[in-house]
Amino acid sequence: MNIFDLNDQANHPRATDSDFAKLTDSLMARRQFLGASAGLGLGAFLGGAAHAQGTATQTAQGPRIGFKPIAANSADTVTVPEGYQWRVLSSWGDPLLPGGTPFDHATRGTALSQSLAMGDNNDGMSFFSLGKDHGVIAVNNEYTNYEHLFPHGRCASIDDARKAQAAHGVTVFEVRRQAGTWQPVPNAPLNRRITANTEMRLSGPAAGHPWLKTSADPTGTVALGTFNNCANGRTPWGTYLTCEENFNGYFGSADKLPDNVAFKRYGIAAKDAGYNWHPFDGRFDLGQNPNEPNRFGWVVEIDPMNPHSTPTKRTALGRFKHENAEVVLSADGRVVVYMGDDERGEHIYKFVSAKTFDPQNAAANRQLLDEGTLYVARFTAAEGKLSGQGEWLELTHGKNGLTPENGFKDQAEVLIHARLAATVVGATTMDRPEWIAAHPSRAEVYVTLTNNTDRGVKPNQALNGPNPRAKNVYGQIVRWTPDQGLHTAPTFQWDIFVLAGNPTLHRDLMAGTPNVNADNLFNSPDGLSFDKDGRLWIQTDGDYSNANAFAGMGNNQMLCANPVTGEIKRFLVGPVACEITGICFAPDNATMFVGIQHPGEARKPSHFPQGGQAVPRSSIIAIRRKDGGVVGS
Ligand code: FEO
Ligand code: CA
Ligand code: CA
Ligand code: CA
Repeated sequence: MNIFDLNDQANHPRATDSDFAKLTDSLMARRQFLGASAGLGLGAFLGGAAHAQGTATQTAQGPRIGFKPIAANSADTVTVPEGYQWRVLSSWGDPLLPGGTPFDHATRGTALSQSLAMGDNNDGMSFFSLGKDHGVIAVNNEYTNYEHLFPHGRCASIDDARKAQAAHGVTVFEVRRQAGTWQPVPNAPLNRRITANTEMRLSGPAAGHPWLKTSADPTGTVALGTFNNCANGRTPWGTYLTCEENFNGYFGSADKLPDNVAFKRYGIAAKDAGYNWHPFDGRFDLGQNPNEPNRFGWVVEIDPMNPHSTPTKRTALGRFKHENAEVVLSADGRVVVYMGDDERGEHIYKFVSAKTFDPQNAAANRQLLDEGTLYVARFTAAEGKLSGQGEWLELTHGKNGLTPENGFKDQAEVLIHARLAATVVGATTMDRPEWIAAHPSRAEVYVTLTNNTDRGVKPNQALNGPNPRAKNVYGQIVRWTPDQGLHTAPTFQWDIFVLAGNPTLHRDLMAGTPNVNADNLFNSPDGLSFDKDGRLWIQTDGDYSNANAFAGMGNNQMLCANPVTGEIKRFLVGPVACEITGICFAPDNATMFVGIQHPGEARKPSHFPQGGQAVPRSSIIAIRRKDGGVVGS
């Protein structure tokens, strides 16, 4: 089966910097933008874009955004523009594997039924084509909400822990299109559940290191499971990358723990985040298994075409609270992976493979993420400027102060403690890096910095260029262009694509950039992905009170932006107390799949999607244009 299908690159296009015509176009547009806005400050943000528009060609104006934007709302449903329709593709608890049973709203299922069904809290996802009307979706199941998972609302036994563990991980399932409608295929051969207990391999430079060894795994190479899988990536060789984010919250201990700098930096503490697995499952008890958390916080590679394959944790990509893994091919064939670490004051990373991608050598491609160089970003700017330069600082043992005297005995220690290494080399602290998205045809990369109330408050988080606002409750999207248009380049130029804000309340930077207005208010950008035409889709995970600083923003939402003009239009509003996260496209872009995560969290009044008195359930929805056209155009 040919799993490398060029038509199937909708949300993760390849080779963004090998096309020199497009590259020139990109640099021209950028120069025009910088020229027009130089010296005029923030107010000129769209002035530059208008100048670029004036340069005539269709491409210079960016992709067409053809839908009529919708208003904010606080309804317990999904709202999409006129001419579009949505339906549920799959919800938490829907059976997918043989022996599965329909979701039971009274019991919410058992550990067994959950292990045969769609996991909870669907997040990042990718579509892998098997033909025009057939594909496989791999989707993360980030976590679970006990107020909905258990009728009794808490984890009170090993059975409860096993059910919660089965609700985590990744779901892989086949989909088929019939009469224009994509549907899951229950019991299909490629359907698979990966949970917090699935056997995985640790590979790369840290595999086998003493810090990864436990009593159950004296080799330090075999880990059980993956959890808090936030967003994702997709490789040119057809594998799925799932990113372990807030893994720290699953570990705890009845004992007081010794002071440990790394535990502190990674947020590992005797008190867990409330999952309460450690009293029932000793693997999560830090007193018994102090190295177990070192086996989490990685990017995991999964072959969606082989349900018997062993998922592999790629230690070369570093250990932190991974958001997503945006994969691009450099002009010379090396693989570049951009990654954010989502916590206040953490960093943005880049991995560059040592070897090159070879479309003819599937076996060799499977090793590409095991050998390469990890970097972390430093941004610089003249005071008060919302643009500037940046450089990638190498995280290689023996360089940049990563020496035994500073706490790093070898490369494995640099990778396992990547956060500590990033501080040693002088990385810039960011406003919670969430998703990173690379433009499909120009060498431009965008990152959502979701918000950061510690900015300007904590000593290590003074205001800086890409993070210019104290107590930043709104968030921003920063973008950079690698120098020479090469993703492997050591330096880049950056600017701010949008500062989210509320211009109906503020006149200062909290109003946001001029591409934010009363009709497209939003806060806390999080999910971010380009479609193949270069539309930038922005998903939010923010304050949905629709009041005070957030008045006029409504429920969490999805917007569509033109990266050339800066124009932003609201495309979708989600149900009560949800987050919108996860996006992929059918190969023809006539259907878009979007994640509705945790509707009704913390017992807020949602019964999405079924209505009535139903238990609210995280769901993947399918959106299409009624006339069958490309979504967004
Ligand atoms: Fe799982 Fe940073 O979001
Ligand atoms: Ca997120
Ligand atoms: Ca978020
Ligand atoms: Ca989430």
